[in-house]
Amino acid sequence: MATSYLRVCQSLSAALRPSLRQQRTLLSRRSNSTTPPSVPPPPPVEPVASAGFSRAKALALGTGLSIGGYALYYYATDTRASFHRFIVPPALRFLFPDAEDAHHAGTHALKTLYQFGLHPRERILDVDHSGKKPLAVTVFGTELSNPIGISAGLDKDAEIPDVLFALGAGVVEVGGCTPLPQDGNPKPRVFRVPAVDGMVNRYGLNSKGADAMAQTLGERLREFAQSVGLTEREILDEGVEGVPTGSLQPGRLLCVQVAKNKKTDEKDVEAVKRDYVYCVKRLAPYADVLVVNVSSPNTPGLRDLQATGPLTALLGAVVEEAQKTQRKTKPKVMVKVSPDEDDDTQMEGVVQAVWNSGVDGVIVGNTTKRRAGVIPEGVRLTSKEQKNFMEEGGYSGPQLFDQTLKLVGRYRKMLDGYSLKSEGVDSAFAPQKVIFATGGITNGEQALKVLNAGASVAMVYTGMVYGGSGTVTRIKNEMRQKLEDKKV
Ligand SMILES: Cc1cc2nc3c(=O)[nH]c(=O)nc-3n(C[C@H](O)[C@H](O)[C@H](O)COP(=O)(O)O)c2cc1C
Repeated sequence: MATSYLRVCQSLSAALRPSLRQQRTLLSRRSNSTTPPSVPPPPPVEPVASAGFSRAKALALGTGLSIGGYALYYYATDTRASFHRFIVPPALRFLFPDAEDAHHAGTHALKTLYQFGLHPRERILDVDHSGKKPLAVTVFGTELSNPIGISAGLDKDAEIPDVLFALGAGVVEVGGCTPLPQDGNPKPRVFRVPAVDGMVNRYGLNSKGADAMAQTLGERLREFAQSVGLTEREILDEGVEGVPTGSLQPGRLLCVQVAKNKKTDEKDVEAVKRDYVYCVKRLAPYADVLVVNVSSPNTPGLRDLQATGPLTALLGAVVEEAQKTQRKTKPKVMVKVSPDEDDDTQMEGVVQAVWNSGVDGVIVGNTTKRRAGVIPEGVRLTSKEQKNFMEEGGYSGPQLFDQTLKLVGRYRKMLDGYSLKSEGVDSAFAPQKVIFATGGITNGEQALKVLNAGASVAMVYTGMVYGGSGTVTRIKNEMRQKLEDKKV
């Protein structure tokens, strides 16, 4: 691509250079213009050959410009372009010292580019030349084109789900969304630790609220319905063959994450249930999967909801409400759990709540409150990085991976084991609980590892902040390569 781009540039500059002959004609015209002519000069007659020559040049120039423009468009909008990885993220860091400003600028840019059809997109298909889909995986009865997801928090208000799908993700999780709008914690609240590609955030679930998100997703659904000549109601009642009603794209799933408002007392289980149920009422029609967030570390008391009693009550209420969704296919329900509550008793409590409430799966991982042992030995942080690393909030980045992998394996075992040993769970018919993994996944090898440990989807967030908009494509390419290598 670089060579052809260079060639185009060379032909363009050649076409733009004025010819010597043209320059001479111009000069002689300028010098003649000082003496007034006694007889009116005859009108200048362009030699036929020269007119033909100029037309040819104009044509060459036009063609050159078109080819150059197209080459630039093709390169800049392709997720494989290294510029998305090596130029854009450092440029954003340089231009926006505050990580949250960079996030908003990135989101805004992607949204605007999408409106003009100029957004980055994945051009290699998940289907190979022989018609096979080497990365396909079936989740909740839908065959996903690939098992890479974009984790919650990147698109908190569901402004750019289609842009994120265009980047190649099989799953996009929007949110976390709270019932009422809330500002979250005071700024600054996101901090970078570039030496280890990590970050700390204490957003505190800033959200425009469930009504606003329902409006945004409703608008998206109406546009889709119009594009296929149906009404919104027809889509909800009948669906479109092969197209999940949330993602509105074949082979993809849209997860909508819900949470409680900060002001809602976490000890008042009925009030907590009302918060989540309100979100479900408003958002379930637009979701393939509803995700119950009880693991963000920045809402005081939220993680306490992971205890078996309140969790069972909360999840049960969400499942019940999800079943009431006025739609042909009801959304599935998952719960997102923290990587820090990791002793056997805590995990068994979650597993018990999952089975007893009828939730369909677990998203294993989130940011961590821990700091000890996170930074690898031998890595030196600058004093600013050290300060950022120690900020209050949840840490995310590649160093979470080992814990994520361990937890996925343990949850897989516990979830499968519970169905076998427990009364009331008919293991012969109970579908296996689905696991999505999040935390420190940045490359294809890691994605394959969590999938082999029992997850169905590997999700990324911080990896995209440092790796740019081609991250999902790169991870999938690495996975395909690894799978190919194994065949040999
Ligand atoms: C800035 C930021 C905001 C986040 N917001 C949310 C959120 O709203 N809800 C949630 O469940 N997780 C949120 N997360 C956690 C991510 O979804 C993800 O689980 C976590 O960062 C670990 O994955 P990673 O190492 O790939 O980033 C957020 C993470 C970051 C860095």
